[in-house]
Amino acid sequence: MRHRAPPPLAKRPPCRYPARMTQHDRLLIIDFGSQVTQLIARRLRELNVYCEIHPFQKVTDSFLAEFAPKAIILSGGPASVFANGAPMPPQAVFELGVPVLGICYGQQVMMHCLGGKVERGQGTAEFGRAYVTPTADRLALLEGWFDTGREQVWMSHGDHVSEIAPGFQVYGTSPNAPFAITADPARRFFAVQFHPEVHHTPKGATLYRNFVRLAGFRGDWTMGAYREDAIARIRAQVGGEQVICGLSGGVDSSVAAVLIHEAIGDQLTCVFVDHGLLRQGEAEQVVTMFRDHYNMPLIHADESDLFLGALEGVSDPEVKRKTIGRLFIEVFEKHAKSVGGARFLAQGTLYPDVIESVSFSGGPSVTIKSHHNVGGLPEKMGMTLVEPLRELFKDEVRALGRELGLPASFIGRHPFPGPGLAIRCPGEVTREKLAILRQADAVFIDQIRRHGLYDEIWQAFVALLPVKTVGVMGDGRTYDHACALRAVTSVDGMTADYYPFTHDFLGETATRIINEVRGINRVTYDITSKPPGTIEWE
Ligand code: XMP
Repeated sequence: MRHRAPPPLAKRPPCRYPARMTQHDRLLIIDFGSQVTQLIARRLRELNVYCEIHPFQKVTDSFLAEFAPKAIILSGGPASVFANGAPMPPQAVFELGVPVLGICYGQQVMMHCLGGKVERGQGTAEFGRAYVTPTADRLALLEGWFDTGREQVWMSHGDHVSEIAPGFQVYGTSPNAPFAITADPARRFFAVQFHPEVHHTPKGATLYRNFVRLAGFRGDWTMGAYREDAIARIRAQVGGEQVICGLSGGVDSSVAAVLIHEAIGDQLTCVFVDHGLLRQGEAEQVVTMFRDHYNMPLIHADESDLFLGALEGVSDPEVKRKTIGRLFIEVFEKHAKSVGGARFLAQGTLYPDVIESVSFSGGPSVTIKSHHNVGGLPEKMGMTLVEPLRELFKDEVRALGRELGLPASFIGRHPFPGPGLAIRCPGEVTREKLAILRQADAVFIDQIRRHGLYDEIWQAFVALLPVKTVGVMGDGRTYDHACALRAVTSVDGMTADYYPFTHDFLGETATRIINEVRGINRVTYDITSKPPGTIEWE
């Protein structure tokens, strides 16, 4: 088959961190563009296995030699092996002598590369729940499976394997996938048509556990070990130099700061930019925690006049975001200079920000919102990055935070956006509106905590609406702001559902806000999911 040149990789900033950061056993996930590739990594990390996801275009022979994986997983993907330029791994994947697991498209690729046959799906496409039953033969990969005769799995494929490659045998079948599970045990090659990483394959985790066990992984990826490694790496990278860190009070920058402080002590200075758009008591909490409790050198830059002055008369959401982003960088740079001679900039970049996505279209995606956070600084500042969380998922950052002794209340905090309350105050932002919003937000969060719901909710806040409505309180007419409560559940902020509060809860909260907050006389509840809505109002 002739292959076109692979499509370009989605754009991402260059990595200025040492390429190989870990001495742990490593598993390589070759990504063919499945929507659920990250879930494979999650399942493996839960098993204390270190893995990295890399797009197929990047996996060359020399990449493989440098990465030195102890096992390889070929992900699913939307392509067909029949397509012109179908994504393929290098043949070396099958010559390294390490176990390989192919999933869905990965299975088809394996068969295609190793001498089997794949057929176009014509009337045999299978999407959704299916049941796999075993054949007579036993397979180490399937230990703990088929206790009750069959297992539920999640299928999502159009094409299917019609002839397995030499050396392979069938170990499981489903009505529409006669080769649902195949393997060549001698070479430790395994191929499944379904997705073991998704929730709808209830025993999928067992399959991954068996795979990494038979590949000889030691399960050496623990937060305790990570902490020690990270500290050693930070010390080696920074030496005796000064480091500055933009601290927002969010979980990522907080964990990064505490970890770096543990590594290099007072060589770290944190800069906390208070743009006047924080929630009630937030600045005090952050300053008390890091300066007083952790004893870190901390610059508390109270720049609220600057930000609120610049936002006067501005009501367009993108202009607001861009204004805040620009000023943030200016202010940060100004205070960073005062540290004197810092060459390193610390950031709480996470692994999902680093994973290069497989882009088949190569085209630009639409900008929904100009996101702003401390990231975006390095290109402008020309400093060397220290990013000790670069290999971690969000829940691993939380686990590391616990390992470092950060209080649970801090680690479990809901995300808060860089532009702060400005994007929860549609229309022009004024000090008066911010004061009203802060109070209402504090009541809402207090209600959620009192009812024991805080940890069930991804994010909750109040948006102050730019409309005034008529009400009646006592015997008098009121003409005050309306507000909207927003509370969502989500796994990663990419999609979200509104939280199903009881009517009693909503009624009680509305009454409290109207009674306790002067300036609001009407409370609504936003029941839009994402998509089509976004979590924030702007
Ligand atoms: P949206 O509103 O896009 O938000 O559904 C998804 C998640 O991102 C947060 N968010 C931001 N975080 N800088 C940030 O650091 C930003 O500019 C920003 N805008 C939105 C939002 O709170 C939610 O958790």
